[in-house]
This record gives sequence, structure tokens and C-alpha cells, in this order.
Amino acid sequence: MKKATDRIRALQGDITRMQVDAIVNAANNSLMGDGGVDGAIHRAGGPAILDECRKIVARQGGCPTGEAVITTAGRMPSRNVIHTVGPVWRDGLHREDKLLASCYARSLQLALDHGCKTVAFPNISTGIYGFPKARAARIAVEAVTAFLNKHEEIQEVSLVCFDEENLQLVAEELKLQAQR
Ligand code: APR
Repeated sequence: MKKATDRIRALQGDITRMQVDAIVNAANNSLMGDGGVDGAIHRAGGPAILDECRKIVARQGGCPTGEAVITTAGRMPSRNVIHTVGPVWRDGLHREDKLLASCYARSLQLALDHGCKTVAFPNISTGIYGFPKARAARIAVEAVTAFLNKHEEIQEVSLVCFDEENLQLVAEELKLQAQR
């Protein structure tokens, strides 16, 4: 099996353009779309995504923080969108780390359950939700590595950074993780 860290890559770009089996959305509990990457995904994918989100909300009443749900990707080149809800940063004493790690693990589990072998993540919670970027980068790399160590079916995870700062932090964490 290829080493977990050899199946993770960090890149800078717009996640809506990724040609992968599933892209992950940094959504909110309502699943009704908003700003940031969530807004970009709904705009690029079109109304089919919101239609499916409405059905999920009718069925289970939104998405709890740290959990994930899956829909079509509509008009985007990927097949599915996995919507996960990251924690709002308060002070680090309100289970923020655990909830953020859970977003990565639950999203990858959902990808696996739906036969998705290539998955792309944004830097969940590091925008509007205010999670410190370096801390979020470490949690993202550790959580994805731990999952890939257990599941060789996932071939590649792309950590798609919108800004240069996140790219540098994630790339650095990936280098450190590969040396462990
Ligand atoms: N591709 C990749 N990354 C993006 C894109 C994009 N097109 N647009 C924004 N980002 C990056 C931001 O730069 C940030 O690093 O995604 C990261 C997450 O930022 P937000 O989208 O603000 O998400 P988050 O901090 O998790 O806050 C979630 O924002 O829009 C709302 O509905 C969403 O209420 C929820 C909140």
C-alpha cells in the first residue's frame, strides 16, 4: 500500500474546479448555503445542490457540527459534494480541535461509503469561522493521515488552499508528517 502521506497533496486553487470524485464543502448547520467556499460551491454547482440539501434537512433537520452529508455536485466537474460543518473558533476549550478532526474523518468515511476514491478538501473553519490556520493545518493533515492509514481504498486526498498562507502551512505539516 502507498504510504498515507504519499496520497495527500497540498495545492493552491479553487475547489469548485477540481476533477475528483468528491469535493468537500465547509457548510453550516442549516445546509442552506452562505458565503465563502460554501457560496462558491452552490454558485458553481447550481440549484441541484440546494434541492438535495433541502431534502436532507427535511429528513434529518440540518447537519450537526463535526458531521457530514453528501449530495450531487451539479454542474461542477466533480461527482459529489460532501458538506461538513466545521466548528466556530472560540478559545480552543470548546472541543474545537476534536470537532475539526471529526469533519475530516466523517467526510472521508462518507466518501468511502459512496465509492469515492479521490477527495478534495478546503481549509475547513479557517475563514468565516476563525479557526487559527496553523492549528487547523496540523489537525487536517493528522486526521487525513490517520484515516488513510486505515483505508487504502482512498487513492488521493487534495488539500486545496485558497490562500498562500494556508498552502505554506499545510505543505509544512505534510512534510513533518511524512518524516514521522
Ligand atoms: N476554493 C477553495 N477554498 C476556498 C474557496 C474556493 N473557491 N473560497 C474560499 N475558500 C477558503 C477560505 O479562504 C478559507 O481558507 O475556504 C476556507 C474556509 O473558509 P469559509 O468558506 O469562510 O468556511 P468556514 O471558515 O468553515 O466558515 C463556514 O462560512 O459561508 C459560510 O455557510 C458557511 O456559515 C458557514 C461558514
